[in-house]
Amino acid sequence: MKKMVVANWKMNKGLVQSQQFAEELKTQLEKHKVLNADIVICPPFTSLDALNKRLNGTNVKLGAQNMYYETIGAFTGEISAGMLKSCGCEYVIVGHSERRQFFNETSAIVNKKVLMALDEGLKPILCVGENLQEHDDKLTESVIDGQITTCLGHVSVEDITNVTIAYEPIWAIGTGKNATPHQAESVHNFIRKKLKKIYNEEISKNARIIYGGSISPENAKELFASPSVNGGLVGGASLEVESFLKIINSAL
Ligand code: PGA
Repeated sequence: MKKMVVANWKMNKGLVQSQQFAEELKTQLEKHKVLNADIVICPPFTSLDALNKRLNGTNVKLGAQNMYYETIGAFTGEISAGMLKSCGCEYVIVGHSERRQFFNETSAIVNKKVLMALDEGLKPILCVGENLQEHDDKLTESVIDGQITTCLGHVSVEDITNVTIAYEPIWAIGTGKNATPHQAESVHNFIRKKLKKIYNEEISKNARIIYGGSISPENAKELFASPSVNGGLVGGASLEVESFLKIINSAL
C-alpha cells in the first residue's frame, strides 16, 4: 500500500497564500515526479475551491478539516458533505482532537459525521488518540478502543474500506514531542486487532492507519518505516512546501 501524506493546515493561510502554496507544490511535484505517496491537502473551507482549480490534473487530492452531519437546512455556520464534494473534496477529517477539545465534539457526534460522509461519498479520515494524562496512566488502549467502537458504530464492512484512521496522540500534537516509531507501531497494531474484532482479518490487514503528531522532515522517515504505519497527518510542517515535500519524500 502506498503511504498517504495528509496536510492539515488548520486555521492557517488565506486565499492568496493557499494559491501560492498550490502553485509552488505543483511546480515541485512536476519537477521531481513525486509518485511514491498519496498526497492530500486539507486547507480551510475558504480555500477549497481555489485549490481544487489549481490542483486539478495533479495527483494531489483535496480534503476538508471538518463537516456537519446534516445534509441541508437551518444550521448557521455549518458546511455539509455535499458542499465539500461540490468543491472537489474527496476526503474529510473528522474527530480531530482540536474539535473534540475546543468544540465539544464527542465520539457520538463524530460517528454521525463518519456515517454522513460515507453516505455522501466522501472518505473520512477519522482521528483518535489519548491525552497526556491518559497516556501517563497507561490508558491509551482503552481510550482508543472506546473511540473506535463509538466512532465506527453502524459503519458497514463495505464502507470501512473508505475510512482512513489517524492515530494522533494529543500530547504529540503541535508540541514537538512525537510518539516513538515503536509507540506508533504498537497502537496501530492495536487498532488493527480492534478492526479484526469488529470486521475481519482482511479489513484489519488492509486498513489504512496513519500517524499524526509533530511529524517533521527529521522524524518522518523513521515514523513511516513500520509497515503498520501507512502514512502521516501533518500539521505545522505542512505549511511550507519545502518541509511538506521532504515529508512526502520520506514515505517509503
Ligand atoms: P502537528 O499537527 O503536526 O502540528 O503536530 C498534527 C495534527 O494536528 O493533525
